[in-house]
Amino acid sequence: MFCSLKQSGLTSSTFSNPLIEKTQALKHQRSLLFSLSKPPIKGVNLVVCKSFKSSAKPLYISSIKELGSSFKLRNRGNVIECKAHEDESIETKSSAAAAAAQKVKISIYFATWWALNVIFNIYNKKVLNAFPYPWFSSALSLATGSLFMFISWATRIVEPPSTDFDFWKSLFPVAVAHTIGHVAATVSMANVAVSFTHIIKSGEPACSVLVSRFLLGETFPTGVYLSLIPIIGGCALSALTELNFNMTGFNGAMISNLAFVFRNIFSKRGMKGKSISGMNYYACLSIMSFLILTPFAIAVEGPQMWAAGWQNALSQIGPNFLWWVAAQSLCYHLYNQFSYMSLDEISPLTFSIGNTMKRISVIVSTIIIFRTPVQPINALGAAIAIFGTFLYSQAKQ
Ligand code: 3PG
Repeated sequence: MFCSLKQSGLTSSTFSNPLIEKTQALKHQRSLLFSLSKPPIKGVNLVVCKSFKSSAKPLYISSIKELGSSFKLRNRGNVIECKAHEDESIETKSSAAAAAAQKVKISIYFATWWALNVIFNIYNKKVLNAFPYPWFSSALSLATGSLFMFISWATRIVEPPSTDFDFWKSLFPVAVAHTIGHVAATVSMANVAVSFTHIIKSGEPACSVLVSRFLLGETFPTGVYLSLIPIIGGCALSALTELNFNMTGFNGAMISNLAFVFRNIFSKRGMKGKSISGMNYYACLSIMSFLILTPFAIAVEGPQMWAAGWQNALSQIGPNFLWWVAAQSLCYHLYNQFSYMSLDEISPLTFSIGNTMKRISVIVSTIIIFRTPVQPINALGAAIAIFGTFLYSQAKQ
């Protein structure tokens, strides 16, 4: 690309032109001058170069012209003008390589997020079947995540975030919503099939639009409102035809949807202007949620129930039960961490499409693993609801 003669900023460069074996760029009155180790023309030892944008790319000389005696610089002999251009292919190649690397990184984050989410859902349900204490199980997964991050910070595997009182204050409403959403989803999964919880949870965009419209006064394109018809209709069809329908399970999933809508609203407001990585943000959220949840978990279930239930589960399942608990707790933290790391790299819209895809993998895999009976009309309801969330994502663009 050709630019103005006046541009400067280059400190050194190598030409591919064999005419000039070795050049060094010098700044001179905002022009770029090249001193030549072997002057190509007798008496000429300076070249004014006409085209520069950045210093990173090699320059190719496209023309060289003697400027004559009027351009003679003091003690520097005659001056010739050369036009050079940067190697644009370098920029194209390096930006294409960076974009490809970014795509690979995001794909790894997505794949890890989904895989860990599927594993979490399977082991969480196995634990809840043997040990039906969702408040304990929710608190334990938050405690495990917090401990995991304290160890990562102490060993400097992860750089600890620098936070202030304002940060924790703005995190508080997010943590309250996260705690409610997490415990409500776990209560739901303790009462109904995991697939059913996730079918209802695929209605989250509908809750988001309704809350934003009626509580915050936001308006959306007509397509967004229309997409709510299949979302709500599909979820309703699925709920009405669910063989093991249970009101606590349904309400838990709905409360979780609402709580996560508020979590997203508060976290968007709280994070404005703050710089903290997705990984550390989720770690702080876990710690605060654990502190909020623990007293409620003790009040609702309590250590006596937990001790008796734990013994019972151990005697029924054996030592494998401990592995199940470890898998569900650790995977809960890690899948959320990867989802927040993905959110760091992509738009909220891509994130919500990814989340919907994740629900499909969870619904299908848990139906297979737990041999959940599914009627065709029930599956149709789930498919309509999920299709609706795709329409919603498209309409929101
Ligand atoms: C939880 O326990 O927090 C929920 O299962 C979360 O569900 P989601 O991450 O799939 O929305």
